[in-house]
Amino acid sequence: MKARTHKQDSLTIVYDADRIQQPGVHLFDPQHWKRQGRLVGEAQGRGSALFLETDFAPAVLRRYLRGGWAARFSRDRYLFTGFERSRPLAEFRILKILLAAGLPVPEPLAAMCRRQGLFYTGWLLTCRIANADPLAALISDRAGDPSLWRETGRCIRKFHDFGLVHADLNARNVLVDQSDRIYLIDMDRARIYKNSTSGFGANLKRLKRSLVKLWPATVGVELEICWDQLQAGYRNP
Ligand SMILES: Nc1ncnc2c1ncn2[C@@H]1O[C@H](COP(=O)(O)OP(=O)(O)O)[C@@H](O)[C@H]1O
Ligand SMILES: [Mg+2]
Repeated sequence: MKARTHKQDSLTIVYDADRIQQPGVHLFDPQHWKRQGRLVGEAQGRGSALFLETDFAPAVLRRYLRGGWAARFSRDRYLFTGFERSRPLAEFRILKILLAAGLPVPEPLAAMCRRQGLFYTGWLLTCRIANADPLAALISDRAGDPSLWRETGRCIRKFHDFGLVHADLNARNVLVDQSDRIYLIDMDRARIYKNSTSGFGANLKRLKRSLVKLWPATVGVELEICWDQLQAGYRNP
């Protein structure tokens, strides 16, 4: 990974020069990929994450969108306080650091911050984690599998040991691939703290809350049992 910066008029792109030879706005334009027949699917998120078959890698393209209450004010515009402080560039940098530390996150390919006066819009392109499903989608089938919950706990612990506090650790931001490898995604506003333990408990609480919300009434295994296994994995990684 060779991170480079490309500046053009009112936008800044950071990208991996080992994979991308020609950085530009086209990388973040869904129409560009659609025209080339490279738009192959999408995942449901706050907005949508588009699945692309690019020349450099199977990728996921995401636009930064607000959720909830703040979306009424503006769905995709954020207050500009500097390119490096923008969400996409910050997420690219943090993914690079986590990856270098050997933590299971998607590889960042490119991020763009596009300034419009006082505001900006942001985009992020990452490598797609192959054949992965959000933990949220696996509950019905896998609730009775203790190793899945233990592994999830162990995975979260690794990030916490590194000082990473996720900003929205819900069951849709935990991906599980076909070999049951666990990844954490969506590092928007995540931070690395060197000497702090605050925020870790909040991450676990947030995840539990999202599982409570998603837990289907028809699942034969109680959430509390799975949650105990997750906590056991977290305590004894
Ligand atoms: N690198 C990736 N590989 C595979 N799927 C991904 C990847 N990044 C995102 N997704 C899918 O897209 C969804 C939304 O992405 P996410 O980064 O969580 O954005 P947001 O929650 O802001 O919409 C995820 O829940 C996941 O299903
Ligand atoms: Mg998400």
